[in-house]
Amino acid sequence: MAESSTWEQILDYTNRANPYPFYDELRKTPVRRLPDGSYLVSTYAEIAALLHDPRVSSDITRNPAAAAAGATIGEDGDGAGMTPTFLSMDPPDHDKFRRITMRHFGPPTTPGRVAGMEARMAEIVTDLVDNMADRSRIDVVDDLAYPLPVTVICELLGVPPGDEQRFRVWVDLALQSTDPGLDPETQQKKRIEAGTELRAFMQELVDAHRQAPGTDLLSAMATDDGPEGRMPDEQLVSTGLLLLIAGHETTVNLISNGVLTLLRHPDELQRLRADPGLAIPMVEELLRYEPPVHFVPFRTALDDIDIAGTTIPAGASLTLVLAAGNRDPAHVADPGLFIPDRANNQHLGFGGGVHLCFGAPLARLEAQIALTEFATRLENPRLVSDPPPYRPSPFLRGPSHLPVDIDGVLAPGRAADGLAARGGDQLPRQGEALPGRAFSPQHGGR
Ligand code: HEM
Repeated sequence: MAESSTWEQILDYTNRANPYPFYDELRKTPVRRLPDGSYLVSTYAEIAALLHDPRVSSDITRNPAAAAAGATIGEDGDGAGMTPTFLSMDPPDHDKFRRITMRHFGPPTTPGRVAGMEARMAEIVTDLVDNMADRSRIDVVDDLAYPLPVTVICELLGVPPGDEQRFRVWVDLALQSTDPGLDPETQQKKRIEAGTELRAFMQELVDAHRQAPGTDLLSAMATDDGPEGRMPDEQLVSTGLLLLIAGHETTVNLISNGVLTLLRHPDELQRLRADPGLAIPMVEELLRYEPPVHFVPFRTALDDIDIAGTTIPAGASLTLVLAAGNRDPAHVADPGLFIPDRANNQHLGFGGGVHLCFGAPLARLEAQIALTEFATRLENPRLVSDPPPYRPSPFLRGPSHLPVDIDGVLAPGRAADGLAARGGDQLPRQGEALPGRAFSPQHGGR
């Protein structure tokens, strides 16, 4: 593969539906130097080693490629952009701010936050699927994969439901600004505009929650001092936005990639329908096989690093291609096969090392619930087009729309139990009672 064409191939939209043959090529040179002096790493062992290597920095202000792309605007307190969050900090600051945030999101201080939302997630999914009842065609992205995580993260943070329409426009603009296909000036303009609007939006929310705190995450962060003190306001605003955006943009892709994969593997769809417990390992396999985040850009070598026979010089920019590492045959047998109950499925879907995804427990639960509900309630789902249209980003990769034809929607509840008991072909339609389990007006027919 010509080195000069590597980055162009990543950007090439025609590779979006199936980038995997290109990744197979990439792995032939595990650590590849590109003409601009940056390095692309594509094999599992090397990516895992670098994710855990303290000589690799996440501080975007140190990164030459980020500076060239104008990406440090907004991260350097220039008045137009964001104060850096722990995503783009190194230890010890990273660890401190991650801990302050985690204090209100998960163990050890708040172990029930995510698990406590499980029933609510199920209720949201039930309502979304109920709304498909009178349709013969649905769009899995618009009707399920997007509304679930956006509703969940808004409720968790304490963002009022009506605000989604406000921030949607700016989040789209912010995501467009990360499109490496755009020229740096346009990227920067979009980033500054989105950053200014989003910051004002989040500051307003933080102020409101401080004045009248609720039980949500933003209220807790805005009012609780904790043993390590309170986060400075500017940083609280950036962190709130990070959680809001990372909290749904990625999970959307996990759910839509998951539905697409299941429709391409009808036997696995059938297995999930009969055994909803399969959703747990299946989501792990999806994070490996069709991960929502394909690479992490803008890491910087702080020292010369010898790896896979190459010396990455101090100061060089690195991109870690997680999705290529996930299909490395040196790490996993039959990497191109979707095997939902793989044993010991270690993947890079959530990254690794100190920046390992903060929201992983939330994303896993949402995807498990959404995929199970899809498998157990939608009758005879069929892909309308394969491949579906994809979102432009090579980095947050997933379908922009996923039209699926259906014959109907089954009643909520343990449809899988009914299916197993009744041979699978005579389940009640939406609104009919499932044997031994009344149709619940609380969950259906709103
Ligand atoms: C399927 C869904 C998700 C995927 C695939 C995903 C993927 C990732 C990856 C690959 C990283 C590492 C980035 C790096 O090393 O630079 C990361 C970090 C992060 N994720 Fe997620 N994520 C998902 C869902 C979420 C959710 C639901 C939230 C919020 C509730 C979230 C919040 C974060 C945060 C705050 C970080 C930064 C962690 C740190 O720097 O210590 N993510 N995520």
